[in-house]
Amino acid sequence: MSISYFILGCWLLNEVSAYQDRSCKPTSADILGPYYYPNVPRRRQICERDRAFHQQRHLLVEGRVMDETCRPLSGARIEVWQADADGHYLFKDMCRGHFYTQIRGNYAFLTLRPGKYSTDPTGRLFRPAHIHFRVVAPDHDILVTQMYFDGDSSLGVNDSCSTCSSDHPDLVVSTHEMCADESGKYCIDIAHFDLVLRRGSGVDVVKDVDDSLPELLDMAKEGK
Ligand SMILES: [Fe+2]
Repeated sequence: MSISYFILGCWLLNEVSAYQDRSCKPTSADILGPYYYPNVPRRRQICERDRAFHQQRHLLVEGRVMDETCRPLSGARIEVWQADADGHYLFKDMCRGHFYTQIRGNYAFLTLRPGKYSTDPTGRLFRPAHIHFRVVAPDHDILVTQMYFDGDSSLGVNDSCSTCSSDHPDLVVSTHEMCADESGKYCIDIAHFDLVLRRGSGVDVVKDVDDSLPELLDMAKEGK
């Protein structure tokens, strides 16, 4: 055995044992919500047909999809959907898309920072800004969840959705700003959001729907 094979073998053993020693907690599930549509286009720029896209705050979301031993899952299918910057869900293909994780489980997509909307009949409480995710990988349960933003005043007990998971810290991300130059005109927010899937037979890991689903469906039909 040459020295290079010996070194490679040691490195591989080290990698394997590193994975064996690690554990990643499955990401909290959240409700699917009434605005999900299957068969959305494959793309990494979400909301691109929104007329407001070029005037709104851009957001780059990146992260990894992993299993419970923190191994990256390549080829996982991620669907995302969200409200636009004004808190409106758009129809057909707008503000929706799907893509696949790469060899190290990495993913990234460009979108707009979503706005809030209210599901509270009194209009007092709002849903915190969020992006919906549905993640599918072979031999794992399907994860349905939502990503929230820290500092949002509508998280947790202030969320108009009483059965949503905005009180789960693993679903709340912080963002940092990156600008192309000193002018401050060309800036983007960047968020990191890792997703951990539970090993299983492919059933949906999703919370029960919200009590206000009928009202939301009415709003969806009216395009609000
Ligand atoms: Fe939503």
